[in-house]
Amino acid sequence: MYFHYTTIESEENKFMKNYILVFTGTGNSLHLANEISIHIDNVEILPIQAGIAIPTLKPAASIGIIFPVFFMDAPGLVKTYLSQLQIEANIDTYIYSVATCGRYPGNALASIRKILQSKDAGLNFAMPFIMPDSIPFPEFIKMQAKTRQQQESRYKEQFKRLIAAISARKHKKASPMLPPVTLIAHIRSKNVSNFDENFAVTDKCISCGICAKVCGANNITITNEGDYPQFNHNCAACMACFNYCPQDAISYKNHNQEWFQYNNPNLKLSRRLGFYEK
Ligand SMILES: Cc1cc2nc3c(=O)[nH]c(=O)nc-3n(C[C@H](O)[C@H](O)[C@H](O)COP(=O)(O)O)c2cc1C
Ligand code: SF4
Ligand code: SF4
Repeated sequence: MYFHYTTIESEENKFMKNYILVFTGTGNSLHLANEISIHIDNVEILPIQAGIAIPTLKPAASIGIIFPVFFMDAPGLVKTYLSQLQIEANIDTYIYSVATCGRYPGNALASIRKILQSKDAGLNFAMPFIMPDSIPFPEFIKMQAKTRQQQESRYKEQFKRLIAAISARKHKKASPMLPPVTLIAHIRSKNVSNFDENFAVTDKCISCGICAKVCGANNITITNEGDYPQFNHNCAACMACFNYCPQDAISYKNHNQEWFQYNNPNLKLSRRLGFYEK
């Protein structure tokens, strides 16, 4: 039992923190969390990452959980973190989750609901949020370039709905888990920790360490100054290392020539580089 419900009166909610827990690879989810924090008072954004002491959250007015969809599910790292998280939740704590995704959220939000339920907590509001794809298939990127303006207006429309819902503490259930999606997600996410076997570091590498900095899975080490980064097979498949490398020195499945880098253009690089505790 990780949730301890206090008996704080709901009137006191307005003086309490609004936590937003975030996992991000290419910055979409962090950008969204930053934007939400502009519209809500007293927000603290906490990183969901591997290898840190998982905090105990004090009674909060709200808790948001924002993350990218990988393989039609929530990333394993996010699920593990939430399973271990301790929350001293007020009975009135409003819990919402937003799954940023290219187009198919699959079971991602249902997975979060299931974890919260196992802790006797409810997910009050769940919303998939479509953003640019962080897996750089050339055909996706071309398609996205054509529709940049459409993407901007889609973002604005979704964001308006999201903020209105959170501000009004609206309730919306996560879609139920669909067995065929569960099967596909299971097959596709099998062996995710070895996803880094797809990467190879080329001689363009200048050993700057940025790939290690942006890795929320703590999966990259550079042992000595000047060494190439090493991948330690504890990968979350977020593609941040590939996408943020300033030298474009990480090849993915040896297709570096045709593959493009993507990271959220609205998120300051300094914010992304400093996001995870290192
Ligand atoms: C390995 C991988 C798998 C993905 N799988 C899905 C998926 O199943 N469905 C989907 O809609 N988007 C998928 N995406 C796209 C991301 O969910 C989407 O771009 C997200 O907004 C990235 O968020 P981030 O920038 O915070 O990491 C995938 C991305 C990666 C890198
Ligand atoms: S970010 Fe790129 S250049 Fe820097 S250490 Fe990593 S692979 Fe090398
Ligand atoms: S090694 Fe790369 S793809 Fe894997 S979790 Fe780290 S940053 Fe993401």
